Amino acid sequence: MGASDSFRQAVYREYMTFFELAEKNRRWNPFTDIPWDEADESTFCPKAALNAETFVGVESYLPDYVSQGINCVRSMFGQAWFSANWGYEESKHALSLREYLTRTGQRTEQQMFDYEKAVLAKQWKLPFETPRQMTFYGAVQEQATFMMYKHQLGLARARGDTVLAAIYGFIARDEAAHADFYRRVIALETAEDRDGAIRDMAIVFKNFRMPGTDLVPDYGARTAQMRETGGVDRGVFLKEVWFPTLKKLGVTRHEVTRALTELRQEELQNRAA
Ligand SMILES: [Fe+2]
Ligand SMILES: [Fe+2]
Repeated sequence: MGASDSFRQAVYREYMTFFELAEKNRRWNPFTDIPWDEADESTFCPKAALNAETFVGVESYLPDYVSQGINCVRSMFGQAWFSANWGYEESKHALSLREYLTRTGQRTEQQMFDYEKAVLAKQWKLPFETPRQMTFYGAVQEQATFMMYKHQLGLARARGDTVLAAIYGFIARDEAAHADFYRRVIALETAEDRDGAIRDMAIVFKNFRMPGTDLVPDYGARTAQMRETGGVDRGVFLKEVWFPTLKKLGVTRHEVTRALTELRQEELQNRAA
């Protein structure tokens, strides 16, 4: 079943609002808006540098995210144009963190090229099949990413690293805006077909993984360290990402739990058949 014209119109309007606000309030310039000349070695920290490097890794699958993501939604103007704009905004995330590491001398250019090669030796694949599942995945994933950057922002501020804090501040604001757009589209989807949308929420919950998992070199050790500095573990994920997302969508935990039970029953039936 194709999307109705009224649904397309509503998604288009959401994108226009998102884009207008982005152009007006959220554009930032990695060359002039980051206080590069304030870099102070005494505020640097090897663990923070490693975390920044991990983020560069995850953000470096941009060619895969953009190409596969935009193809998934190409027939829906609002979502396809969002993807194009999203790619521009995301492109500044890896770039500014990479510049931070090299300009401050915490990594050499050569180290970054070697890392880039190791990262891109693997390819990210779409974790879900349908635009609606990918949109809901986007809402959850961007919110989790926002939480992670917000946390790193607090740590950078506490150390007095004003350069890294500025970068994380801009990135976190972008990620929050991305999560908000995806949530708005999923809210429209839920209004169109509540049972189907909630079933997709259950599918995403059951199979959710962050995008760099098993792709970024040493991902396990890297995320263990990120958690050590108070990152997003499963408890934080549920409390600060998953439940608030459902709440904002007006969906109850009970509805998702019921959909999860149905999915499990279907799986058992399919296995028995
Ligand atoms: Fe990003
Ligand atoms: Fe994002």
